[in-house]
Amino acid sequence: MAENGEKKESPTSPTPQAVKKKRPEDFKFGKVLGEGSFSTVYVVRELSTGKEYAMKVLEKRHMIREKKVQYVSREKEVLSKLNHPFFVRLYFTFQDKEKLYFGLSYAKKGELLPYIVKLGSFDLKCTRFYSAEVVSALDHLHGLGIIHRDLKPENILLDADMHIKITDFGTAKLFIGNEANEKGRNSFVGTAQYVSPELLTDKRANKSSDLWALGCIIYQLLSGLPPFRAGNEYQIFKKIISLEYEFPSGFHEVPKGLVQSLLVLDPTKRIGCDQCGGFSSLKSHEFYEGIEWESLPNQTPPDLL
Ligand code: ADE
Repeated sequence: MAENGEKKESPTSPTPQAVKKKRPEDFKFGKVLGEGSFSTVYVVRELSTGKEYAMKVLEKRHMIREKKVQYVSREKEVLSKLNHPFFVRLYFTFQDKEKLYFGLSYAKKGELLPYIVKLGSFDLKCTRFYSAEVVSALDHLHGLGIIHRDLKPENILLDADMHIKITDFGTAKLFIGNEANEKGRNSFVGTAQYVSPELLTDKRANKSSDLWALGCIIYQLLSGLPPFRAGNEYQIFKKIISLEYEFPSGFHEVPKGLVQSLLVLDPTKRIGCDQCGGFSSLKSHEFYEGIEWESLPNQTPPDLL
């Protein structure tokens, strides 16, 4: 310590770039929060600070064998760019001989999906609030040139205060420059129910593909089920490319108009896309009247009843 009580600078003081790597022994591992095909997420407590994290543990051998190295690098690259309350944050990474470790924000209330299942559906107020948080998150994400590509209620987590934290960036796409310059086709197709028609026909995803998923999610929050349903993926895909879905009776007219403006086959004609006035037009939709966009993270979410 220096005389004034401040920490004295010394040649060995860690610089922000050279903070000591953490190790598995620095944490007490708790229950499994989720299991992927080549990763497991645990809740952990850091022994020195008492802080809780969601620790994603990936087995190197498994990643290499399953050719998933690219997905893991993508996830780390994208998460490192994100610093916004509506996204899971990557606090640190380290590795040992067999495994990679990602220290993520712990979203204590888990996935959004079980809440929809348990409640049957959300009322207008809750749908407005939670879909507004997703809109706000997508506005930020797309502004950074990132497309999520697998947005669904399983990837929307809830923190201790019941605000959203979007996760799973393994299949996200990062655009350097303009997305229109993107030449290649993608082999990746997200989860069947939320996949956009352009991904099925041109194998090309763009920012608008996340808006299609948003339309599916708003429909699901209000009705309990996603709009395109069938016994198998092929039948779901057929319905998506022919826009074959119906609104249950009693579906409120205002969100119905919004869903109809999002579930448009032409990705350049979806509300919120660059060609349609961007996010400001989406945020100005009648459904979101009264939403204070900037302060969403600081608002008290409506109770899910
Ligand atoms: N399941 C997967 N990732 C999680 C996280 N970050 N927080 C809580 N549950 C999770």
